[in-house]
Amino acid sequence: MPFRPTDRLKSLPPYLFVEIVRKKQELLAAGKDVIDFGVGDPDRPTPQFIIDRMTRAVQDAKNHPYPDGRGSQAFREQIGSFFEQRYGVALDVEREIHALIGSKEGLGHLPLAAVNPGQTVLVPEPGYPVYRAAAIFAGGEPWTLELSEANRWLPDFASIPEGVARSAALINLNYPNNPTGAVATRGFFEDAVAFARRYDILIAHDAAYNEMYFDERPPSILEIDGAKEVAVELHSLSKTFNMTGWRLGFVAGNADTVAALGRIKSNLDSGVFTAVQEAGIEAYAGFERPEILDLRELYHERAEVLASGLREIGFRVAPPKATFYIWAGVPKGLDTMGTVMKLLDDAAVVCIPGTGFGAAGQGYVRFALTVELDRIRAAVARMRELSW
Ligand SMILES: Cc1ncc(COP(=O)(O)O)c(C=O)c1O
Repeated sequence: MPFRPTDRLKSLPPYLFVEIVRKKQELLAAGKDVIDFGVGDPDRPTPQFIIDRMTRAVQDAKNHPYPDGRGSQAFREQIGSFFEQRYGVALDVEREIHALIGSKEGLGHLPLAAVNPGQTVLVPEPGYPVYRAAAIFAGGEPWTLELSEANRWLPDFASIPEGVARSAALINLNYPNNPTGAVATRGFFEDAVAFARRYDILIAHDAAYNEMYFDERPPSILEIDGAKEVAVELHSLSKTFNMTGWRLGFVAGNADTVAALGRIKSNLDSGVFTAVQEAGIEAYAGFERPEILDLRELYHERAEVLASGLREIGFRVAPPKATFYIWAGVPKGLDTMGTVMKLLDDAAVVCIPGTGFGAAGQGYVRFALTVELDRIRAAVARMRELSW
């Protein structure tokens, strides 16, 4: 057999959702009305003003050749002005910004630029699984940075053993956080930057949910003095603008890291379709338009309804502050998979086991708020009828 899976493939964590997907298909085939809180993919379409710009851009032959891999000048300038307006951070558009084919792509490739085989990568858990996979693909050694409810899902830098910190090349952070919905303060980012400077570690802050908040605007790590020496931040248009399928994001911050990631990417991909970047320019120019502000309201209302419904049933849910996820501690006496299967079998409600985000997710399940309000209410009513 010419194909044998590599060790790096074999060392990826198992895909936990196979059984859930199979059960869901079974229920659908049996005509059941499944309410699916599984995948974090917005249920509403991309706002029309963005589609209109794309429609024009795709007609324009100047957008048809290979794109500028870094992102067009106009795209980078728009990101620069967004950063200035939003965070009061000035970015050098020539050296400190690079377009990505979605933030996942950047997170996936970054360790190839920043981590040598055998070097440690600090991977928070529960967390977005790509951080670990990317470290493994680069030959790095993931070291699990356990997050806990007691620490409001923020890493405790003091708990990282000295030897681990010294051997680490990269630390992944993500606030507002998937799956926990936790947010970080400027004070936390100051500590993170101080830690990274002390041990000479690169920070990759995944800010995919920075625009999805309900009250207080989440900071950028690049607001912190000295952050540009040790950090890059990855942003995404996917969730902010309902553009998951368009594949557009960017990385900003430390110029050497941005250039190094650009070198990796130029050997692997040829950038983002320039017409998609034009649509991205329109999106960021309109980041305070009512269509976008309304999305925040929409998710906030959904979050409140689902969180209070789950609490009544006996789940433990913190007040939702950001993201479109509800992270719920399972009712007493149940375990993670037991809860997921009970909801699936007895209420035709799909949620994701916390253990899909690492062992530290044991005891929790995640609901994505990508379901209309009346369906959320229906799901709560169904769940309430079960015996707990
Ligand atoms: C924490 C986090 N980072 C990054 C991404 C990837 O987003 P993108 O569509 O920009 O690749 C996701 C998507 O779910 C996510 O949850």
